[in-house]
Amino acid sequence: MQRRLVRKLDLTRALSKVEPNPSPKAHLEQYTITPKAAAEILYLAAYTYDDIVDRNVVDLGCGTGRLAIGSALLGANETVGVDIDGIATRRAFFNAERLGVNNGTQWLTADVNAVRGFFDTVLQNPPFGVQKRKADRIFLKKALEIGNHIYSLHHSSQENRKFVRKMEMSEQRLLPVSPSPFLKNFILEHGGEIRGVYTLMMETPYMFKFHKRRLYKYTADLYVIEQSA
Ligand SMILES: C[S@@+](CC[C@H](N)C(=O)[O-])C[C@H]1O[C@@H](n2cnc3c(N)ncnc32)[C@H](O)[C@@H]1O
Repeated sequence: MQRRLVRKLDLTRALSKVEPNPSPKAHLEQYTITPKAAAEILYLAAYTYDDIVDRNVVDLGCGTGRLAIGSALLGANETVGVDIDGIATRRAFFNAERLGVNNGTQWLTADVNAVRGFFDTVLQNPPFGVQKRKADRIFLKKALEIGNHIYSLHHSSQENRKFVRKMEMSEQRLLPVSPSPFLKNFILEHGGEIRGVYTLMMETPYMFKFHKRRLYKYTADLYVIEQSA
């Protein structure tokens, strides 16, 4: 049994070495999760819900691998990262090698719809559907088809500016909130049960011409879901 306890700060530092996509595409919403947010999600999954250590994990829309690599660092049995963009998965492979988790990770260039199999845990920071409507729902549907426990990030149902201020003032990095009625129904209809919803801070640096700020701070909701079928 491979049980590793990694301090959150060390995990955050390690994840900051994961390099982003060298040629990000707006239509795929290729925003890399911050090391802090990734570490919060992974810590919650590993030590509150026991869904990482010794588990088979898949990261859908893995980008350059931050969530997948983090799960490998925390002691996942095997982690598969899937992304539609080959440039992202090549960079993820390079990042995994750099962080010494090449053995426990595999990278697949594919559309999320093509993924088959069954995994203990699904991690996903999907496109929120800003560029392509309903993009996150395709991911959620797939996650509920192939995974037992799911950690899925979505557009926050909270009023952004107010909540960003609240999060910045709070010591808590994950704030329990209510699910959006739409997602709650969608999850139920697809055989899932919500175990918890948490708001966390996200940041995106200026990347594309249509961005208006050097750094955009916003909140996203993490849905922790169990397959109930
Ligand atoms: C918001 S980014 C998140 C990247 C990474 N998981 C992270 O958190 O840093 C969403 C990712 O989903 C990928 N993606 C978008 N549509 C996809 C699809 N249909 N199948 C697989 N991956 C897809 C994008 O290429 C992008 O890397």
